[in-house]
Amino acid sequence: MAKINLKNLKVEAKKGIEKADNLKDLDEIFRKYLGKKGKITLIFNSLKKLPLNKRKKLGREANLVKIGLEKLIREKTQKFKEEIRAESLGKEKIDITRPGKKVKIGHLHPLTLVQREVEEIFQSMGFSVITGPEVETEWYNFDALNIPKDHPARDMWDTFWLKVEANTRIHTNDTNRLLLRTHTSPVQIRYMEKHQPPLRIIVPGRCFRHEATDASHEIQFYQLEGLVVDKNISAANFRAIIEEFLKRFLKTDIEIRLRPSFFPFTEPSFEIDVRRKKGKWVEMMGAGMVHPNVFKAAGLIPNAPAGGWQGFAFGAGLDRLAMLKYKINDIRLFYSGDLRFLKQF
Ligand code: DAH
Repeated sequence: MAKINLKNLKVEAKKGIEKADNLKDLDEIFRKYLGKKGKITLIFNSLKKLPLNKRKKLGREANLVKIGLEKLIREKTQKFKEEIRAESLGKEKIDITRPGKKVKIGHLHPLTLVQREVEEIFQSMGFSVITGPEVETEWYNFDALNIPKDHPARDMWDTFWLKVEANTRIHTNDTNRLLLRTHTSPVQIRYMEKHQPPLRIIVPGRCFRHEATDASHEIQFYQLEGLVVDKNISAANFRAIIEEFLKRFLKTDIEIRLRPSFFPFTEPSFEIDVRRKKGKWVEMMGAGMVHPNVFKAAGLIPNAPAGGWQGFAFGAGLDRLAMLKYKINDIRLFYSGDLRFLKQF
């Protein structure tokens, strides 16, 4: 009886293993035949009731069936596990030949690019790059530059005055009120107070004007101040330096012309126009020979009547330089934060 039972069980279990579709099926079959209460386990348990010779024979046979089934289950389990592994490997596989996703990195603002380029050109000509405060005193922005209070020349620079509360620590009085600097020229005075000539500096920086905006005017903009002081500096030196700078900056052959003009801090003063070959003249900067009163305000002895310092100064709009270089027709674009504009640089 037990013998037939064993044969049937073996066939039945084998079929089950063949049909098994997954690990769970196999596990169920194992438990059904070989688990603690499995059908084959029960045969082992019943052996002790049999006489010795039958017990030995059946025991051996049952053991062979058990080993055989275990082997089949083990093999199929292995097969399923490999399939699962292969599948997940396939899903997670990295194709190293696929082109990568480009990481988008930003870039510098066009005005920063222009400022750096300008600095590099002037540095190669022996200039130092100097900066000064954007919040300035009335003295440095006006008086020291030979622009006294109530002088009509002040109308050239509409100013943002700062209201200073009585309890702030900044010491101001009527003659030294605070404002947002209208030009970079005050840094001429600040620098000459602390440095003896000969000197050669440029001062890039942000300036502010209280005026209506349009395509060529903004309430904030960038200037580039220049100052060269020595014993024998002339307007001819200025012309040579500025022509060299503009050629290198615009990377093309240009012409410049000097027109007589007026600035309180220079005497004589001129306006510099630039044109590309046969192009239209574009007003580029103001300049002139440093006024004796400016040297005096900074504590230096001017060359008039004789024996002191002399030099030239100039003030250009960095925005204007950038506009000329990149053919931009509206200064407001620089401050608009419009990516369609900014991404072109
Ligand atoms: N500070 C002048 C302005 O903002 C520009 C200028 C003109 C600067 C002549 C100079 C100069 O140094 O010599 O309009």
